[in-house]
Amino acid sequence: MCGIIGYVGTQNAVPIILDGLKRLEYRGYDSSGIAVMNNNGFDVVKQKGRLSELEALISQRPMSGYMGIGHTRWATHGKPSDINSHPHLGSQNKIAIVHNGIIENYRQIKERLEQKGTNFVSQTDSEVIAQLAEYYYNGDIVEAVIKTAGNLEGSYALGIMCLDEPDRLIAIKKDNPLIIGVADHGIFIASDVPAVLAHTNKVYYLNDKEIAVLTKTSVEFYNMDREPVHKEPETITWSIDSAEKGGYEHFMLKEIMEQPRVLKETVQSALGCGDNRRIIDGLDVSRFNRIVITACGSAYNAGMVSKYVFEQLCRITVEVELASEFRYKDPIVDCNTLVILVSQSGETADTIAAMREAKRKGAATLSIVNVVGSTIARESDYTLYTMAGPEIAVATTKAFSAQLVLLYILAVSFAKKLGKITKEAADNLFAEIASLPDIATGMLKRIDPVQKYAATCVGYKSIFFIGRNIDYAIAMEGSLKLKEISYIHSEAYAGGELKHGTISLIEDNTLVVAISCCERLYEKIYSNAEQVISRGAKVLFIGNCIKAVPGERLEIIELPKINELFAPSLSVVYLQLFSYYVAANKGLDIDKPRNLAKSVTVE
Ligand code: AGP
Repeated sequence: MCGIIGYVGTQNAVPIILDGLKRLEYRGYDSSGIAVMNNNGFDVVKQKGRLSELEALISQRPMSGYMGIGHTRWATHGKPSDINSHPHLGSQNKIAIVHNGIIENYRQIKERLEQKGTNFVSQTDSEVIAQLAEYYYNGDIVEAVIKTAGNLEGSYALGIMCLDEPDRLIAIKKDNPLIIGVADHGIFIASDVPAVLAHTNKVYYLNDKEIAVLTKTSVEFYNMDREPVHKEPETITWSIDSAEKGGYEHFMLKEIMEQPRVLKETVQSALGCGDNRRIIDGLDVSRFNRIVITACGSAYNAGMVSKYVFEQLCRITVEVELASEFRYKDPIVDCNTLVILVSQSGETADTIAAMREAKRKGAATLSIVNVVGSTIARESDYTLYTMAGPEIAVATTKAFSAQLVLLYILAVSFAKKLGKITKEAADNLFAEIASLPDIATGMLKRIDPVQKYAATCVGYKSIFFIGRNIDYAIAMEGSLKLKEISYIHSEAYAGGELKHGTISLIEDNTLVVAISCCERLYEKIYSNAEQVISRGAKVLFIGNCIKAVPGERLEIIELPKINELFAPSLSVVYLQLFSYYVAANKGLDIDKPRNLAKSVTVE
């Protein structure tokens, strides 16, 4: 959580940092701040609230500088407040820092420094970094940073400025992402690529415990022994347009609408001649007797959908585990297990920990990741990239869809390699997957029924999602999407499970969204719908095999026909739009829902 950015160069750092923070706001948005260095020393502004409030403050009290650091916060230690906002300064006002991560031993460091007379002003763990760096500072900021980092336990990505060394901006990281961007007018540090895309597509990825020393015209890298480290820059292919709203009211809507293109490029990379194809073709699957998929949130739901596809086609057991649970359960994995990590950001702390635990136990790890160069992408044995481009809305849509198609393609490829299906059957399945982008394009031209129905749903206190088999798995994603952006309580149930308890929650005018794309199970899910209607519920049926007719308590939204294994890619488009329009009609901050952050880099 939290986004950090820093700049040193020939232009005014303030607008550059504010613009970068806007593009990092998805990482946290309960407070923000900026510190710049100018000829008078440090100038710091920080406060609780959205970045727009910080911008308003700065427009009334202009500031400028050739170097600066900025922060957008998702509070972990210390409530959102002006004083707990970053940047933090040491008590001698010599060192300013921004921090993304958690310092686990901050209490011990704080006590130690307090005994030596240091006066702390905030409740954060981060302030100890500024105070400790000042304590160690003896005329050499790099040395002070190395000593400080040597004392820190936990995770950090840091931007550091020192009053006595006004030409240097220092960065260091451990277990949280940090990139260095090189533009013609200056050098950047940032938590993520979109923050620098307006200025450069040339970036270095910092590894754990590497230090970057930036000046207006150069960047040098060192290890903790202060030996120089040689690094090669990488060229980012994402365009700045992909990180703009492009005329849409919200990033989420834009990203939903981008799905046909994202699906097409992702399918192409795996079935055409892209890197994904090379990796999938090269995988020796005969050595695996188990597949474990581990991930969080929506990425976990993508894993749940694909479990049905893998098991149906490969006849191999697939377990799907929440990464936050997997890491602590002494998982049963060995060198014959393939552990698949699914993550948009590639920086989710729980998924990283799960990956490391799987590797420690000798399992092969394959990741499906969107952010190039992210920790999971770099550390897993094999990496497949979703071609979603930057995803800004906190609620994932296009990255989820891209994860699904890569998982489908993996499942079909594995089934073919294992001899469970013929080449001809595999080619037919690949052709169906390749048809998804065009079908999604058609669906996105006919969104009126979803939009209209969603507008009638703002008053519900609770909405249930049901489905059977693979429709149940995608119902879980529909439910998660709704609760995260509309703040309406929601749960997903397997249709057959209702009678075992949940049906007691159904009362007059409860809404139940039923997904029906498994034709062989239509009568079963229809009977579940009737059971809830007869207890006063209303039902919104979304599917491609519905024989019922709409009525006072039954609304139907049709989906195009497709193999049931791939139908979740279609149902999810209307489920996303349903949530989007419910939230839009409630007037909520859709791209930045309360209490959430897109990239959960803390435990
Ligand atoms: C999805 O809409 C959520 N914002 C969230 O559940 C997300 O999928 C989860 O935090 C995992 O993130 P990752 O894909 O970046 O690992």
